[in-house]
Amino acid sequence: MAQLWGGRFTKETDQLVYNFNASITFDRKFYRQDIEGSMAHVTMLARQGILTDKERDEILACLKGILADVESGTLKITEEYEDIHSFVEATLIDRIGDTGKKLHTGRSRNDQVALDMRLYTRKEVLAVDELLKELLHTLLNIMEEHVDTYMPGFTHLQKAQPVTLAHHVGAYFEMFKRDRQRLSDIYHRMNYCPLGAGALAGTTYPLDREYTARLLGFYGPTLNSMDSVSDRDYLIEFLSALSTIMMHLSRFCEEIIIWNSNEYRFVEIDDGYSTGSSIMPQKKNPDIAELIRGKTGRVYGALMSLLTIMKGIPLAYNKDMQEDKELTFDAMDTVKGCIALFNGMISTMKFRKDVMEASAKKGFANATDAADYLVNHGVPFRDAHSIVGRLVLYCIDRDKALDDMTLEEYQAVCPVFEQDIYEAISLKTCVKKRTTLGAPGQEAMERVIREERDYLERYKSIS
Ligand code: ARG
Repeated sequence: MAQLWGGRFTKETDQLVYNFNASITFDRKFYRQDIEGSMAHVTMLARQGILTDKERDEILACLKGILADVESGTLKITEEYEDIHSFVEATLIDRIGDTGKKLHTGRSRNDQVALDMRLYTRKEVLAVDELLKELLHTLLNIMEEHVDTYMPGFTHLQKAQPVTLAHHVGAYFEMFKRDRQRLSDIYHRMNYCPLGAGALAGTTYPLDREYTARLLGFYGPTLNSMDSVSDRDYLIEFLSALSTIMMHLSRFCEEIIIWNSNEYRFVEIDDGYSTGSSIMPQKKNPDIAELIRGKTGRVYGALMSLLTIMKGIPLAYNKDMQEDKELTFDAMDTVKGCIALFNGMISTMKFRKDVMEASAKKGFANATDAADYLVNHGVPFRDAHSIVGRLVLYCIDRDKALDDMTLEEYQAVCPVFEQDIYEAISLKTCVKKRTTLGAPGQEAMERVIREERDYLERYKSIS
């Protein structure tokens, strides 16, 4: 048992208590941030005359050595330490003796862990944003390629009106673009430095918090020491943004699973992203899409857990907060993995243009356009709706499409129909005429694609 306290105690900690309390198994993940934070702290202490320059240099050199040794694997972060803070400080003291004992001057593990977690999370916000950007590039490439790939648009999973694949994928482009905006909001709100808040009430040393904040790339120091050590809002916001990303991925996965089914056959997932069955030789399963859909649950779970952990905690630091880490790390790693895999899956997936187009031609996706045709010839919309409804019923009975009816059949129901009805309800016309911004018509779509290309060109990263 290696711990930083004990002076006040007369008995050893029970081993079970020690294990229950320890966080080294998971907070070792931010050893780098812990060391960087300590380096900034020591640099500031010397600048303020609290440490000598010689002491600072000795500590900094040793911290650098510890970092290098951990990264190269020659120094192992073992479970004999209570947490990553103890590990770094104990190793420092081991290596340089008494000077090392000065590192923790004017600092508490409460502001230290608040800093480490913030530094780690800030890096992760950028990493998730980068992955989303790559996904947006993939989606935009698909959109550019499929402005003329016709497919049915659905409501209630029933064919509704014809759209294009570019338009359908474009909907997800907008969702993931908003996800990036959410990450940016979070980044700008969280980028303030809690170091110097001490245990809860600041310290009596003349610390320069502006300076450490700047050294660590923050906009500035946080403004209330009690809030600084007990704020986990930024994690909750991040988990919420991650949950929204998963919700979007999960919806897309659900569609891909449907599209990949034997009944739809709109897409074929690449062999590299499918799996087989141990018993049914014919099977090629969309496991990756299903797993991403499934993993959404654990990310939502992390959000709910942290909200629940935080709801009853009085100011300021309480040990409950140690529970913020495992679930947040798990959510971050899960989301990063899911975005990367989804990107791989969709960029290798085959879209069957012919099957999509054939499907759009069946199922009366052009019924609204037939009604609009009548409206354009002076029939009030409500009447037109009813007339086309009757035509659809007629076609269903005879198992055919509106496009397959003869002009006589049309005119038997309504004499307003003329030869140009066929052109008016052809798939291509139906899509082409939807020219309002945001609609699937080629011109409107191409304008959106240009704007989004421009956005990706302009907006490369948050910081
Ligand atoms: N492992 C602790 C955490 O993650 C570090 C802070 C410990 N502070 C304390 N007063 N026990 O929250």
